[in-house]
Formats: sequence, structure tokens, C-alpha cells
Amino acid sequence: MKICRTKSALREVVKEFRAQGDTVGLVPTMGYLHQGHMTLVSTAQSQTDRVIATIFVNPTQFGDEADLDAYPRDEARDFALLEAQGVDVVFAPSVDEMYHPNRQTSVETEQLANMLMGALRPDHYKGVCTVVSKLFNIAQADKAFFGEKDYQQLLVIKTMVRDLDIPIDIVGVPTVREVDGLAMSSRNVRLSPEDRKAALILNKALAYGDYEASDGRTAEDLEAELHSFISREPRAKIETIDVRDATSLEVPQGQIDRAVVILLAVRFGDVLLIDQRVCDPS
Ligand code: PAJ
Repeated sequence: MKICRTKSALREVVKEFRAQGDTVGLVPTMGYLHQGHMTLVSTAQSQTDRVIATIFVNPTQFGDEADLDAYPRDEARDFALLEAQGVDVVFAPSVDEMYHPNRQTSVETEQLANMLMGALRPDHYKGVCTVVSKLFNIAQADKAFFGEKDYQQLLVIKTMVRDLDIPIDIVGVPTVREVDGLAMSSRNVRLSPEDRKAALILNKALAYGDYEASDGRTAEDLEAELHSFISREPRAKIETIDVRDATSLEVPQGQIDRAVVILLAVRFGDVLLIDQRVCDPS
């Protein structure tokens, strides 16, 4: 496995792959890898000849300096996992390598970036789009792989690629869960044992919501039901519960009769967990 620290080193490697006629898959991550990330990697390996994983804790998508500092990191372990999985290249640049000191350009999907999680975290999706478009430009991959767990992020990136004519296919990969149902996340290690147990309410609420969605509910009713379901867990501090159209993220009108997505953002202690599930009653 080749480790690239600079953009020019990565460009050189990709040039060699291209010269051999190989297709290239890109898996952007912020590291502290778990089985969810590794499933993106194995999906990429099944669809492209060469796979590049990127590890970069992107400061421009964190609103809060403390959250950025608290983000878990273990580069040696990440490299070992990627090597064992047979990844061809890992791109792990420094902040100074990625961002010009006088940078002036950012990328924003105006509407999508400012609703839902974007309304709670101003500039978050602008930071995501900016770094992801830079990674696309540097790696020149054929396909890039993103998790459905970060559902709004996946839609934001698909929209950016459509609007800016970026020549890359975006592939969404279903959420990978622990055996007990908790969605895998690099943040899970920061949960206390009590909160780790309490967080199981999220996947239970999604299963309940999926069942209820097919029963002639409106989105508003369903949100209220999910609110009382999750409130039964005293350790859960609800930030947002939204039931939205699964493709546009608009508020669905009337009884639910097409695919909707349930989006949960719930805090346990100081750890904000998100989870989602698409429900299609049709
Ligand atoms: P990060 O949180 O490290 O996630 C990297 C990728 O792994 C994302 O596409 C995310 O949706 C996916 N992922 C995380 N947990 C998953 C799970 N349980 N099942 C399936 N996929 C999962 O998302 C980011 O980093 C950053 O915003 C990034 C896109 C790298 C830009 O900085």
C-alpha cells in the first residue's frame, strides 16, 4: 500500500493507474476507521480496479474547535486496517498541504446545505463540499463511495456533482451497524457504557417509525410519535427528528405515500449521534 502525503504524490500514482488502463475508486474518510468505512472500501474494491482511501480530519467542516480537537485519531491503526484490506493507496495530507494559507474559494449547495443538520451546524456542508471537491480534483477517480448513514451529506455531494458537472459517479452504501443495531461511528468510542446502551433507542425508533410510516400517518404525526418514543429513554437528548421526502428532503405533504427518510440527531452526554432510515410505504 502506498502512502501519499502530498497532492502531487497522489496525482503521480493516479497517472500510473490510468496509464495501465485501471479504473479508480475513492473512499474519503476522516479516519478512526471502523467496519462502516471498511464496507465502503470493499464496495469500492468490487466496482473499481484501484482504490484510494483518504484520511483527513477536515477543519473547515467543524464549527467548534473543541469538537475538532476531540475527534478521535489513530493513523497507525488506520493504515494497518487499510493495508490488511488490500487498499492500493492512502492519501493522508496535513492541513497545510490541503489548504492554501490564502484560500478564498468554497463550494456550497445553497438550499440543501442550510436545512436540517445544516441549519444546526452553519457552514458544515460548505466545508464538506469544499474538501470533497478538492479530493475529487486531486484524485480524478471514476467513482466515489459515501455512506447512507450521513444521508444529507450523500445528497449534498450528489447535488454538487450534478450542478458542477464533476465527472465522477457517486455510490451510496447502506449503513453498517453493530450486532445490537447501533450505527457504527467513530464517535461511538466517546460514549459512556450507560450512554452506549441507551443509544440503542435510535435503531429501535427507526424500526418503529418504518412500521408506523406505512399506516396512513402524516410526516408531522410520525415525528411526534418518534419524539415520544425516544423521550422514553431519559439519557437521550433529542436535537432533531425529521421525516422528509427521501430524494428532495422537502417536508412531505399529507399522508405519507412515497419514500421518506427518518433523520435522527440525538445527543448522549456530549456525543451527538445521527441515524437514518428510508421508509417506502408504496
Ligand atoms: P467520516 O465520518 O469519517 O465518514 C467517512 C464515510 O464513511 C462517509 O461517507 C460516511 O457516511 C461513511 N460511514 C460512516 N459510518 C458509516 C456506517 N456505519 N455505515 C456506512 N458508512 C458509514 O463523512 C465524513 O467522514 C466526512 O464528512 C468526509 C466525507 C470524509 C469529508 O470530510
